[in-house]
Amino acid sequence: MRKLGNYLHETNWLLCATHGGYFTGRKQMKPTPVNPSRTMTRRDAIKKTILFSTSLWALAGASELRAQAPATKFPEGGLDFLAMGDFGSGNAVQRAVAAQMADFAKKLERPLTGVFAMGDNFYGKLTPERFAPHFEEMYSKEHLDFPFYACLGNHDYGPSYDSKQGPAKAQMQLDYAKNNPSSRWKMPAKWYAEEFPDAANPLLKVIFLDGSMFEGALTPKEKIDQKRFLEAEIAKNTAAKWRWIVCHYPLFSEGVHHDNARLIAEWGPLLNKHNISLYVAGHDHNLQHLQVDGYKNNFVVSGSAGASLYPIKRSGRGFAQKISGFVHIHVGADSFEVQYITSTGDCLHAFRRTQAGKTDTIIANGNGKRQKA
Ligand SMILES: [Fe+2]
Repeated sequence: MRKLGNYLHETNWLLCATHGGYFTGRKQMKPTPVNPSRTMTRRDAIKKTILFSTSLWALAGASELRAQAPATKFPEGGLDFLAMGDFGSGNAVQRAVAAQMADFAKKLERPLTGVFAMGDNFYGKLTPERFAPHFEEMYSKEHLDFPFYACLGNHDYGPSYDSKQGPAKAQMQLDYAKNNPSSRWKMPAKWYAEEFPDAANPLLKVIFLDGSMFEGALTPKEKIDQKRFLEAEIAKNTAAKWRWIVCHYPLFSEGVHHDNARLIAEWGPLLNKHNISLYVAGHDHNLQHLQVDGYKNNFVVSGSAGASLYPIKRSGRGFAQKISGFVHIHVGADSFEVQYITSTGDCLHAFRRTQAGKTDTIIANGNGKRQKA
């Protein structure tokens, strides 16, 4: 039954996306006026979605409809992270995902190390006053009291379709991290690397990047500096068993943004050559797990932690679903596991990757039975 709830829940987000707007601070942007014929079309579309969902529910076997709960028990050792992108709306969707992240953290029988906050951190005009309601108070201090490693997305550069604040909006986020070292908000630079649990004995190295290549975002010099930084970091010797890249922009996406030719050309060859096992991104407002011909990496998109959802435009390279949520990653010495968790607490998809590079699906589209490790 909860599976049907998921579909209806998604329909609600469709309503939000249609009739709502992004919150800018505490004030919501005025929705675009609609004419009656378009309203009828939307109603029809919603009705069709519900009918379609109901038909799916009727067609599927009862056993397949049981929602999968995310795993909360993992072997001793290793590290745990959450990853979310495109969250900074300040609206009910962001609150729902934030609440679910807190609930999952509470149930997880292990401490979490951190959150990857993957850009589009604040939609609309950013003022210093927004950090409290839309970050500090949004994410439970009780259950999510660990660093949020943040990177910048297109909306964080205040372009014309956002706040028109320009790079000052990104600088405000860098300044907030610098001026508030006790805050969970960590953004030491536009691009940076971290070793976990620490540099002395690392299990994992994460390189955080800024893929904002458009006019008005990274300057030509910054683009060159970042490329040199990436090449140096990726070539550096490390005792870490795993190396990942986290960035707002995916290289590959089944959603409306499609594949990013510029980043594929700039970073793609480095990913394979230097065994970056996982590339985690947001930007497309949905959840995806892709494996791409010619690449040995696993590609995760987790860009639905607060914004209106984007549809899936193509398929064939893995899991892709238009739904709000976040991912949980457990990394051990021999393998890591990724779970896709919705804003209603269901696990839709999960996979495991070994050190040897083998990838196994553990939960397939919310319908597969959990397999034994
Ligand atoms: Fe984005």
